[in-house]
Amino acid sequence: MKDVYILAIESSCDETSMAIVKNGKEIESLTVLTQMDTHALYGGVVPEIASRMHTENITVVLEETLKKSSIKIEDIDAIAVTYAPGLLGSLLVGVEAAKTLALVYNKPLIAVNHMIGHIYANNIEDDLEFPLLALIVSGGHTDLVLMEGDYQFKILGSTLDDAIGEAFDKVARILGLKYPGGPNVERLAKLGKNTYNLPKPVNDDSYNFSFSGLKSSIINLVHNEQQRNHEINKEDLACSFQTVAIDELTRKLDKALAEFKVKKVILAGGVSASMYLREEVKKITDKHNVKFSVPNMKYCTDNAAMIGCAAYPLYLRKEFCDFDLNPKSQISLLEKTCKSNMSSL
Ligand code: KG4
Ligand code: ZN
Repeated sequence: MKDVYILAIESSCDETSMAIVKNGKEIESLTVLTQMDTHALYGGVVPEIASRMHTENITVVLEETLKKSSIKIEDIDAIAVTYAPGLLGSLLVGVEAAKTLALVYNKPLIAVNHMIGHIYANNIEDDLEFPLLALIVSGGHTDLVLMEGDYQFKILGSTLDDAIGEAFDKVARILGLKYPGGPNVERLAKLGKNTYNLPKPVNDDSYNFSFSGLKSSIINLVHNEQQRNHEINKEDLACSFQTVAIDELTRKLDKALAEFKVKKVILAGGVSASMYLREEVKKITDKHNVKFSVPNMKYCTDNAAMIGCAAYPLYLRKEFCDFDLNPKSQISLLEKTCKSNMSSL
């Protein structure tokens, strides 16, 4: 079979990224331009600034990505783009760039769900082996998903309130740590001990998660101690929070592995950069004797390589989009993007 080259675009949050991906697996070229330093000045992503910076950066990122590859744009087989979920203004920049390239170079257009991109990042240096359990952990999502095959998702459970990354970011803010919070909480937690007795989310026998009670208990604890002029041991509090939060994930994973016979567990999303999470999940997968894979650190955070990987099964099925494709801020994993309505291309 002929090799398939996909030019992928990602601009859902604060990274402008493009990649050329061969056969849904090999990364020919990848460029990631992060705006993190700018948003750090404001303590979080400012949507208006993010979309303006994407607009300024997108052509530079395209030029760089093509320059690093031996593949010419004329030889690309399809243009893929993240169209949801994310910040609308940011997504729009990528979607418009993708439509323009598809139109000018007469290439099919593929719309990719960002969260599915995070899942397929596990196919870059490893293989997705089905059936598998995917633990999706990011700033906006916390889902436990059973996959029987490519694009076959069964959502076993989701967060009932905050996403795990959101909880890390909020706790970071309470502890006076800089954005992005997650890695800074983990760094601090390494220096501390699990000494604070924080409430564990109720074990309701479902596969759903909850993090808002834990977050509120930390806000209350910090305020009470401040009012009494008591010192808070930030290292210990970070460690105690991280222990309870990650335990909420591994407890449900443990239960799912007892119920479903799978070949592999994969982590997806920004929080999978957490070394502590990786270690704790490894303990559970070892216990159940199943394989465990997590993307290389550079593919855990937002990047276009994962979008090119996730686009490949859609390319094979000719699930191409029309030019009326619009970005969406929220979307389910189960929502079908486009019908094969441009299969004549
Ligand atoms: O997937 P992602 O890059 O962006 C989206 O939310 O889509 O995930 C970002 C999230 C942030 O909440 C960040 O604080 C969290 O991932 N994160 C971490 C770590 N590294 C990133 N959370 C805990 N520990 C980490 N080491
Ligand atoms: Zn992401």
